[in-house]
Formats: sequence, C-alpha cells, structure tokens
Amino acid sequence: MSAAPILKIQGLEKSYTPGRPVLRGINLEIGAQGITAVIGPSGTGKSTLLRCINRLVEPTAGAILMGDEDLAKLRGSALRQARRRIGMVFQEYNLVERLSVMENVLTGRLGYVPLWRAWLRKYPEADIARAFALLDAVGLPDQATRRADALSGGQRQRVGIARALMQSPALLLADEPTSSLDPKTAVEVMELMARLTGEAGVPVIVNIHNVDLAKRFAIRIIGMTGGAVVFDGPPEALENHHLREIYGGEDWL
Ligand SMILES: Nc1ncnc2c1ncn2[C@@H]1O[C@H](COP(=O)(O)OP(=O)(O)OP(=O)(O)O)[C@@H](O)[C@H]1O
Ligand SMILES: [Mg+2]
Repeated sequence: MSAAPILKIQGLEKSYTPGRPVLRGINLEIGAQGITAVIGPSGTGKSTLLRCINRLVEPTAGAILMGDEDLAKLRGSALRQARRRIGMVFQEYNLVERLSVMENVLTGRLGYVPLWRAWLRKYPEADIARAFALLDAVGLPDQATRRADALSGGQRQRVGIARALMQSPALLLADEPTSSLDPKTAVEVMELMARLTGEAGVPVIVNIHNVDLAKRFAIRIIGMTGGAVVFDGPPEALENHHLREIYGGEDWL
C-alpha cells in the first residue's frame, strides 16, 4: 500500500472579490513523495492554490489537511509552526539582496532560531555546517560570502532551493521556479530540485508553464483551467486534447 498523502485538499475555494471565485472547489490528495506539477493558463489560480496551502492567501472555503491539522483554519503560533514544515521556492527567488549567500540560506532556519539570535546573526554551529553542506549540494560551494545581488539567476535559484531545504520541510512548494531562467539553466535547476528533494524524501508541488519540463520531472500532472482541475494523471497520460482543454484554443498544437 502506498504511504499516506502529505496533503488532502477538500473543496478548496478562493475568491479575492466576493462572488468572483478564482478557485472553484479543488479536491486533491498529494502523495508523500515525488514531484506534482500544476499546469494551466495564466490567471487560472495556480499561484493562488500554492499560496492557500502555505496561507500567504486566506482560503474562502474548504480544508487543507496536513496530518491532523487543517492548514486552512490555523492561526497565530500554530500557523507559524505549520509554515515551518512547508518550504517555498519563488520565481523571482525572493532573496535578501544585500545579504550574503550564507545568510540567505540560514534564513531558512528563522522559524527555529530565537529572534534575538537571528537579529544578532548568531546561528548554531550545526546550522552553519548544514548551510555549507547545502551550498555544496546545490553546486555553490565557493559562493557563501558573496552578496545575493552578485549572483546570476540560476545561482540565485540554487540559493532559493538551499534556503527552502534548510528548513527541513515536510513539503516543498515551488511557484514557477524556472520561468526566469534560460532553457538550459531551467533544466539544471529542475534536475537539482528533483534530486535533492528525492534524496530528502520531500514531496514537491510545482507550478510550471513549461509542459515539457513538467512531463520530464513530475510523476503526476494536474491541469487546471478556470480555477478547477480538468486533468490529473501521470505525464504519459497527458495528450494533446488534454492540453487543448487546459489551455483552450485549437490551432497551437
Ligand atoms: N492578491 C490578489 N488580489 C486580487 N486578485 C488576485 C490576487 N492574486 C491573484 N488574483 C487574481 O486571481 C486570479 C488567479 O491568479 P493566480 O496568480 O493564482 O494565477 P496563476 O494561474 O498563478 O497565473 P500565472 O500563470 O500568470 O502565474 C487572477 O485573475 C488574478 O488576477
Ligand atoms: Mg502564478
């Protein structure tokens, strides 16, 4: 029997404006392993879905069950605790530009380090050793002291991945992590994310516009259109008629 899912999303709805739903009742179970890719046209609610999971956005209705907890209902310290278990990788990296690579990676531990230690930039030795190991793992062993704003996009996203893994997440969310990168770097970053999360046994949900990359790296593809799931299956089951349904139109395939 397969392992219990990491996430059960039930009847998830989100309206930023009352009466104008962006997510229209999403029901999904996310497995405890592997990469799940979410594809769909711009504006269909992919980012909104990820942001409901880590509660950067308030769901309007529904449940997001992780273990015994409904993430959709958490408040205050319980929400902060839950967020520590969910890593996030962003399209535009979201690094602190004026801080060093090492400090950016260490901020992944902020949830764990008492605030006064973080302010004093005093991290436990073990965290610093782990950050070095992660920088090694993402292929930036010599970049620890460089400022984030001195890095290329590909290097920044490697730091973004190291920072997310630094928090030892139970689940990793990635919102268009390769959309700002050239095609070769995009593949390298996806390979890296797939390898490191695979080794750590961390399931990933990734929003991605590049269908080829989704098919290459994901074990499951979720196609959304109009705020609803219209395809859910393994990459090999995704056919052109599904892509037409997901993205609309006839002539582009
Ligand atoms: N903070 C917000 N306030 C109001 N409306 C929003 C907000 N964020 C997103 N929306 C709207 O919700 C809809 C879905 O947006 P979302 O960013 O989730 O789409 P997406 O599928 O991630 O698109 P893209 O592929 O362009 O990233 C869009 O119509 C967008 O304008
Ligand atoms: Mg988006």
